[in-house]
Amino acid sequence: MDSELLDEPAAKKLKMVKAKGKKGHVLVVLGASGDLSSKSIYPALWHLYKKDKLPKDLYIIGYARSKLNVKDLRTKAEEYLKVEDSDKDKFKDFWAINTYVPGSYDDASKATALTDAFEEVEKKHEEVDRTFYVALPPTVYKSVTDLIKQNWMAASGRTKIALEKPFGMDLNSSNSLDDHLTTRFKNEEVVRIDHYLNLEMVQAIMALRFTNRIFLDMWSNKHVKAVMITFKEDFGTMGRGGYFDKSGIIRDVMQNHLLQIMSLVAMEKPESSVDEDIRKEKAKLIRAIRPVVEEDIVVGQYIGNPQGKSEDAKSSYRDDEGVPKDSKTATFATIVFHIDNERWEGVPFIMRCGKATNEVKDEVRMQFKEINQKMASLFDKEPIERNELVIQIKPTEKIALRITGKHPGMGMELENTELDLSYASKYNKEALTGAYDRLLLSVLTDSKTSHFVGRDELKQSWKLFTPIVNMTAERTPIQYTFGSLGPKEADTLCEKYDFLLNDKYPW
Ligand code: BG6
Repeated sequence: MDSELLDEPAAKKLKMVKAKGKKGHVLVVLGASGDLSSKSIYPALWHLYKKDKLPKDLYIIGYARSKLNVKDLRTKAEEYLKVEDSDKDKFKDFWAINTYVPGSYDDASKATALTDAFEEVEKKHEEVDRTFYVALPPTVYKSVTDLIKQNWMAASGRTKIALEKPFGMDLNSSNSLDDHLTTRFKNEEVVRIDHYLNLEMVQAIMALRFTNRIFLDMWSNKHVKAVMITFKEDFGTMGRGGYFDKSGIIRDVMQNHLLQIMSLVAMEKPESSVDEDIRKEKAKLIRAIRPVVEEDIVVGQYIGNPQGKSEDAKSSYRDDEGVPKDSKTATFATIVFHIDNERWEGVPFIMRCGKATNEVKDEVRMQFKEINQKMASLFDKEPIERNELVIQIKPTEKIALRITGKHPGMGMELENTELDLSYASKYNKEALTGAYDRLLLSVLTDSKTSHFVGRDELKQSWKLFTPIVNMTAERTPIQYTFGSLGPKEADTLCEKYDFLLNDKYPW
């Protein structure tokens, strides 16, 4: 089929695709016209297609309210993907398995074209699985899942719905969404996605922890002094202000991405590497986190930098579209958590995140206790700095161990240095898998390489975070300049808990 037949109605176009096997798959991207789809979903589908990883009879249907066609989807996605000359034909073939259907998210009478498209595919195969990827704002989760339940469940084969965070705004709304889903769908029909769980280095945490004797034995309050989990971006809300203002940084990244990372770092060893067993341990860990007190929270909001190099950098958060001029929404937060169990008693876990800071960086930084300084005086260098284990997630993948070593030469000069496992130099770039490649493959093929969010851990996370978002809702955030490290008060909080901010390695 010619992928240039882009304006044909989906059902007509699907009729022309040749079936290869008895089993067919339809993936519906709900919200196909949005940023998430162009930036992450279509590029990931293309990567999988290029590597022949997708099911062989897969039909991808983009669905959204706007009157678009496949060419529009392709043009938008092309901004975020690179196609080598040698892949040009394959790229064309990829778009040939794509169609687009405009429709409604809540009105079945305006959604019949999708039903027709399903029927067309079902004529070709004995069994057809239907997967719905919901790349939509959470405000329509309930109505769109109602549409699925009432109109689009698979006639033969299985139905699967993939939903992305946010799962609610607090404990009540999250419970209400959970009730909505569990009264309509079987457990195995819904997967809850936190894409951070599928990032290469987040997946690497368990391997590092549970397969190395040195880390197994070091991983507790006996040796660890403090842990920091960082999320930094060097850009502002960039037009997402309308959504972001209702959410704020704590709900946007802390309650989900950072808490997931912390759980993987701090949980006990799961019974197996099966997702359910991991989720059980994460939920147990979150349950053991002590309620957070006001003094352990610092929130900030960025203001434009007049010397900034771009319009974005010159603009304040409150200048973004949809943000009220008196908004108190936090774009930066630092919060200290304490885990009430034997392993972590006395070890602060500090989560620190900010938009519009000086750089993009996501990492886990574990600081170990200093050695006895008297012993270190053997080398006439005091004080000997702490060892640190750094798991860098972004912008590049890296595991580093900060150590003290001997500087090469005649003398016995000591220096702080690092054992550096930078993935870019150690591994072939092709081996690094994007979060969406991994999770889409799991959603479509039931491969077990992805991790999803469990209902219990979600409940526990909202029990922990609902008081935090309530406590901070009316606080006036401290202003910090676009491109800076964030408010100084956050540094003071880290120092209070004896996390050492090293000048050479600012957070
Ligand atoms: C999203 C947040 O979940 O994660 C965004 O809503 C954030 O605010 C994003 O920018 C970061 O993830 P990525 O993979 O897009 O860099």
